[in-house]
Amino acid sequence: MALIFIISAVTNIITLIPYVPSKTDYLKYILRNLKRNCRSKNIRIYDLGCGDGRLLFLAEQLGFQAKGYENSIGPFLYAYLKKHFIRSKVKIVLGSLFKADLKNADIVFIYLLPYVFDKLVPKIKKECRKGTIIVSSGFQVPGLNFISFKKRINHKQWPSIHYYEV
Ligand SMILES: C[S@@+](CC[C@H](N)C(=O)[O-])C[C@H]1O[C@@H](n2cnc3c(N)ncnc32)[C@H](O)[C@@H]1O
Repeated sequence: MALIFIISAVTNIITLIPYVPSKTDYLKYILRNLKRNCRSKNIRIYDLGCGDGRLLFLAEQLGFQAKGYENSIGPFLYAYLKKHFIRSKVKIVLGSLFKADLKNADIVFIYLLPYVFDKLVPKIKKECRKGTIIVSSGFQVPGLNFISFKKRINHKQWPSIHYYEV
């Protein structure tokens, strides 16, 4: 177990993006909002840097198909074990989000640091289909078509939510 945490810490140092899980209520708020605004069935949502998979499991409960990428072994293992324990059908990939194939995504969720956007935005523009929704937690994403913005709800201490369309 200690080894897992040491490897996770080293991975986080390399990527410089720590594992900071989103609050469950915050994710439910985002997912319900997305669900209300999407008419079609079988919506595929991707979480790039999915941590312990909490968005994926909540999304599945709401009827989304969910897939996540995580390169830190600790949160990945937690998500992987939980998936099997609750017999979830979400997909969780251990590896870099920059290796993700985004062509099937309808919605992409990111809770990352802005320094990766220089590399991530061209990938999103190249691979995502027109109309794919990008939801960024906490940070604006320059270079994508802005849809709307929900500012920090102070009494809840939630990060701001930024919606974009490819
Ligand atoms: C701020 S946490 C967000 C976790 C989750 N999305 C949530 O909202 O609860 C960012 C996650 O991205 C992961 N991460 C950072 N860089 C990554 C990369 N290049 N490939 C895959 N995962 C990455 C980190 O290990 C961390 O778990």
